[in-house]
Amino acid sequence: MSVLLACDFDAADWAAWRPALQAALPGERLLLPQDLAAQPALREDIDVAIVANPPPGLLAGLPRLGLIQSLWAGVDRLLADPTLPAEVPLARMVDPAMNTAMAETALWAVLTLHRHFHLYARQQRAGVWQALPQLRADEIKVAVLGQGQMGGTVMHALRQRGYRAAGWRRGEPLEPVLADCRIVINLLPLTADTRGLIDAAFLARLPARASLVNLARGAHLVEADLLAALDAGQIAHAVLDVFHQEPLPPTHRFWRHPAVTLLPHAAAQTDPRSAARIAAAGIRAWREGRTVPNQVERSRGY
Ligand code: GLV
Repeated sequence: MSVLLACDFDAADWAAWRPALQAALPGERLLLPQDLAAQPALREDIDVAIVANPPPGLLAGLPRLGLIQSLWAGVDRLLADPTLPAEVPLARMVDPAMNTAMAETALWAVLTLHRHFHLYARQQRAGVWQALPQLRADEIKVAVLGQGQMGGTVMHALRQRGYRAAGWRRGEPLEPVLADCRIVINLLPLTADTRGLIDAAFLARLPARASLVNLARGAHLVEADLLAALDAGQIAHAVLDVFHQEPLPPTHRFWRHPAVTLLPHAAAQTDPRSAARIAAAGIRAWREGRTVPNQVERSRGY
């Protein structure tokens, strides 16, 4: 039996992933999509696929496939492929190293917005010397949308730094969480229910001059509605890591908008050193007939 690696990695990614996966999966035969193209009979041999944005349709042609292990925490793109075999268990990546990286990004964004470091950077470019009002962390309420692995870690990190963090999970009333908040951080999974959640109506429920931090998926946000709210000054600033189209097209207004800070989908990258071991542990569990951790509930979408 063989393990298929179906990952949209570039050469630098592979240089890190190949040795990590080989070390974590000793004795496993690792195949790439190009091996299957060269030798189609190898498809019969694959029982596990490790995936990161696999080409749509690829997993449907594997008759013995018994487990799909994602290297991404979010599996929305996988689930959007209608040819994904419905009966094969799918596990997502849950890695404490990723949760920590996400908490670092969230803290950076909150510290920046709270202490106006983004405005000082702007002032420096304009040659302006002016201190701005300095609030305490316990005067800043941060709403955290999503209370899973990442949302939970972010809540904890914010509370440790003294912020008032209020968490929201789907199905709960949103008003009390958004009331009085200065900053909203989105860490929800992308599902049919959460797609487009952050639209004009959502933004209008935020206190005037609140800021938005989107670290989850671009499709949670209606980008035109955010631009309108930023242009109107209703939303003070947005920190965005994810976009409808990635890479963000060069002509997109977000690139040069003075009230936008953007990252290239880098808030929490999968770390091959830890994630290869986590993927290997899931594969071992499956081979030994034990429960594979972090399986996706497809009806739920994450
Ligand atoms: C990154 O966005 C991930 O889902 O792992």
